[in-house]
Amino acid sequence: TRTPVNVTVTGAAGQIGYALLFRIASGHLLGPDVPVRLRLLEIPQAVKAAEGTAMELDDCAFPLLSGIDITDDAKTAFDGVNVALLVGARPRTKGMERGDLLEANGGIFKPQGEAINAGAADDVRVLVVGNPANTNALIAQQHAPDVPAERFTAMTRLDHNRALSQLAKKLGVSVTDIKKLTIWGNHSATQYPDLFHAEVNGQVAAEAVNDQAWLENEFIPTVAKRGAAIIEARGASSAASAANAAIDHVHDWVNGTAEGDWVSMAIPSDGSYGVPEGLISSFPVTVTDGEYSIVQGLEIDDFSRARIDASVAELVEERDAVKALGLI
Ligand code: NAI
Repeated sequence: TRTPVNVTVTGAAGQIGYALLFRIASGHLLGPDVPVRLRLLEIPQAVKAAEGTAMELDDCAFPLLSGIDITDDAKTAFDGVNVALLVGARPRTKGMERGDLLEANGGIFKPQGEAINAGAADDVRVLVVGNPANTNALIAQQHAPDVPAERFTAMTRLDHNRALSQLAKKLGVSVTDIKKLTIWGNHSATQYPDLFHAEVNGQVAAEAVNDQAWLENEFIPTVAKRGAAIIEARGASSAASAANAAIDHVHDWVNGTAEGDWVSMAIPSDGSYGVPEGLISSFPVTVTDGEYSIVQGLEIDDFSRARIDASVAELVEERDAVKALGLI
């Protein structure tokens, strides 16, 4: 039997945590033959709720779940961690300025980065879900100097999946008919879902759509503002779909992407496509043998260039703001 993989989930008692933990424990994160040991990190007030979720996990009798630890101490939570899902974050509340938001999240992601640096396993992979995800990932990464920088990633897979679904609906095709879709930039309203390199049954998606007005005025805003639309309709933010995207992100990072396709991940830039080196920005990536690489050689036209640049400019601003606050 294989040794269990240590998976740490922060914000485990939150709504994404509730949707995520059962799928990790049932084998969807890493694969149907990989046992997992769960570590749940919560703030002290939410430890009891996390214990309740752990009772339910017990009650599922998942064959692959070899144990659950619950803690409010980051050092304990990340000791020996192989996969870290950083979900817990400080949400923006009414009247909160961006500086306050970044500062509050710095207070979470700095110590978590330090704890990962101190105790994580050599092969640790980190996915940041908690918003502002790209910049929170950068903060954690900057406090983990002994961990290879590329192990810190942020989630744009929910945006990717939303874009797949919107495009499939528009064209009356199955999501499996669509390949090579890309989300570029920040996980925010400035993100750019790119249909100029996506393919639908082999045809360029933008050509298959053949409706620039729809692309600009419907598709891009619908994908970028989907989170707000979910809150409006559901009275709560995306949870199951966010958990599903986190599963997809880590699953593909560990197990690889399909031949002839790619996925979107926010990863530290190596300077590709003019994105300043070190920024954690979303790119098209393929994964082989557990290592991702940015798809190279795509031609970027003026329309795409302007949108990528706008989102990247926002990431630069966020980085400069956390620098100015002394958080990195
Ligand atoms: P939630 O408020 O239901 O749960 C968050 C949990 O994190 C709470 O239980 C809280 O106690 C915990 N927490 C707060 N600080 C913590 C700390 N320092 N250590 C450990 N746990 C801590 O929120 P929900 O809906 O689960 O969302 C979590 C985050 O995910 C939010 O920041 C949200 O904006 C973000 N999100 C990101 C998406 C993406 O596509 N990247 C999509 C949807 C949500």
